[in-house]
Amino acid sequence: MTRKALEIAPLLRGLSFNGEKGDIVVFKERMDYAELTCKPDELADKFEKGMHSVLVEGVGGFLLGEDYDDAVNGTSNAPVLNGRAAVVSNKVCVVTGGAQGFGEGIVRELVKNGALVFIADMNVGGAQKLAIELNNEAGRTVAFGVSVNVTDEKSVEKMVAEIVEKVGGIDLFVSNAGVLKAGSVKEMTLKDFEFVTDVNYVGFFLCTKHVAPVMELMNKPQGNYFTDIISISSKSALEGSNKNGAYAGSKFGSVGLVQSFAKELVVDNTKVNTICPGNFFDGPLWSDPDRGLFVQYLNTGKVPGAKTVGDVRAFYEAQIPMGRGCDGEDVTRAILYTVEQKYETGQAVPVTGGQVMLN
Ligand SMILES: NC(=O)c1ccc[n+]([C@@H]2O[C@H](COP(=O)([O-])OP(=O)(O)OC[C@H]3O[C@@H](n4cnc5c(N)ncnc54)[C@H](O)[C@@H]3O)[C@@H](O)[C@H]2O)c1
Repeated sequence: MTRKALEIAPLLRGLSFNGEKGDIVVFKERMDYAELTCKPDELADKFEKGMHSVLVEGVGGFLLGEDYDDAVNGTSNAPVLNGRAAVVSNKVCVVTGGAQGFGEGIVRELVKNGALVFIADMNVGGAQKLAIELNNEAGRTVAFGVSVNVTDEKSVEKMVAEIVEKVGGIDLFVSNAGVLKAGSVKEMTLKDFEFVTDVNYVGFFLCTKHVAPVMELMNKPQGNYFTDIISISSKSALEGSNKNGAYAGSKFGSVGLVQSFAKELVVDNTKVNTICPGNFFDGPLWSDPDRGLFVQYLNTGKVPGAKTVGDVRAFYEAQIPMGRGCDGEDVTRAILYTVEQKYETGQAVPVTGGQVMLN
């Protein structure tokens, strides 16, 4: 896909914007017949809402539709969703680190709410497997797997281009990929510190750098197309974490990026916020039977008197006023609120069961 085609696809999504979202726009290198044939600089003047095919001379063809199946086959069986679900229904969402853990939970919830989700992960096999499962369950195209290493700028650029080629834009980008390496400041290696910083902090910068220009193009034609970039930080973005400085530092840092990007990107109607979840005890990070934190903490005697994994878990649950860990559904509720809310940006939203409270 040429640079020009990468610009025209989001513009088409913006031109077809209906007050909530634009059409899905699928790029076709070759197209013989189109409802509209025009030169690149004539596009905005000649485009009319409801068009299904556009051929831009010297650039290529674009198929448009209500959802992906409508654009590609002219048939759609998208469910009609109301209320909060309508907030992301038929919108293009991307979740980095979506193959497992919190990311997987967010992907599943977004799909339940009618979104078309790109599961972007280094573990592309896991991402594709999840996409196939979700598409089979839904009986329509609701998810794609896409490969990305968020610490590698070329890889991030390629991911964004792949998404724009397939669907024409991005409405909601969830920067969720993150890693944790705990350790005392007296002992942590620079290599481990940089690894955590690269994924959690630099990765969020790289993703925003390449996603924001696409969102700007989507907003350009009508000037009222709101889009969202949401980072998944942590309760450790709001309160320091003992012997876990690399992680907390990267998450605190991401709040600084969120506030700064929010101030800058407001001119494009792109909101930038962060969700700060509490611990996801049922996810692999905590519950993996071999490498999970519960087993690690049991083996290292971190929790005094704990004899089983269950004792360690109970110790951590007791620190949460609401008595349980956080899950993907809890986080997605905050995401939906953030997307629905058109009068807030640059915020850090805690989802911690009352464990961390804002001043
Ligand atoms: N698990 C928790 O208790 C908890 C609590 C608060 C916040 N968080 C945050 O939630 C996010 C998800 O955490 P999780 O526990 O679900 O993680 P996880 O380890 O279960 O999953 C992380 C996913 O990200 C992918 N990934 C890792 N590095 C990547 C990279 N460089 N590029 C692309 N993909 C990459 C992995 O392949 C994996 O699929 C992280 O940002 C984490 O800091 C987690």
